[in-house]
Amino acid sequence: MDEGIVRVFHSRRLDSLQTQGIGKKIYKYDTTGSTNDLAFMYALQGEKEGAVFWARAQTKGRGRQGRCWVSHKDKGIYFSIILKPDILVSDAPKITLLAALSICKALRKSSDGEFLLKWPNDIVIDDKKIGGILTEMNEKRGKIRFLIVGIGVNTNFKRSELPTKEAASLRILLEKEIDNEHILGLCLQEIDSHYAQFKKDGFSQIIDEARHLSSLWGKQVRINDSLEGVAVDFDEEGALLIRQANGFLEHIFAGDVKLMASDI
Ligand code: BTN
Repeated sequence: MDEGIVRVFHSRRLDSLQTQGIGKKIYKYDTTGSTNDLAFMYALQGEKEGAVFWARAQTKGRGRQGRCWVSHKDKGIYFSIILKPDILVSDAPKITLLAALSICKALRKSSDGEFLLKWPNDIVIDDKKIGGILTEMNEKRGKIRFLIVGIGVNTNFKRSELPTKEAASLRILLEKEIDNEHILGLCLQEIDSHYAQFKKDGFSQIIDEARHLSSLWGKQVRINDSLEGVAVDFDEEGALLIRQANGFLEHIFAGDVKLMASDI
């Protein structure tokens, strides 16, 4: 159910966002199906880069690979951003990694937790998932027309409300109620500055920072329920490098990463 726009945002705190482009316009909703769907629809109608669609709850929140994203009211932040980078479809995963790095840094600014990114799209703490990113796209002849970067962060879930034992929330970690608007503001600031850096200087500094905040190094992982090995690095394009038992280094460009039992 889409209850319509609650407001185009005028909160003092978010109005005072010092961003170059991201979040200049924030559409806030009470409840919607999926903020990714809203953002996609607006982008098709010509909405500008940087517009943000934020909902207090989603009834059809979705994650990668057809999974659902539990989106109870005010228990998390659920938002999607329209981006229009001048890149090829094959470079879109860079933007997902950029967003994951940004959310990690935003959460680190909000508390002293050791938030890490789990390639390609998760934010974790102590190997428990606290946030995720779903990037969807519209393309023409291999070039991106727009990307929708959808982000969910578990903020106020109590342990009993979380969908799995492998999930975490800020409230559980910090033992207090979390101010969603404050966390959203931090996330938008970080995405804004990394996106500006990406447009100006390319991907190399971003990948360097992401290397320092990766949760996977030295861990035995399984990719897409088939290939196994130890995660050792990212390449310059943001692909994950896996050292297999036979010594071969495999570049993984997309996929689902599972930690093997000994590393959980
Ligand atoms: C994942 O980890 O699989 C990605 C989760 C992405 C969830 C966010 S919440 C806001 C946006 N709207 C959606 O329906 N999904 C993304």
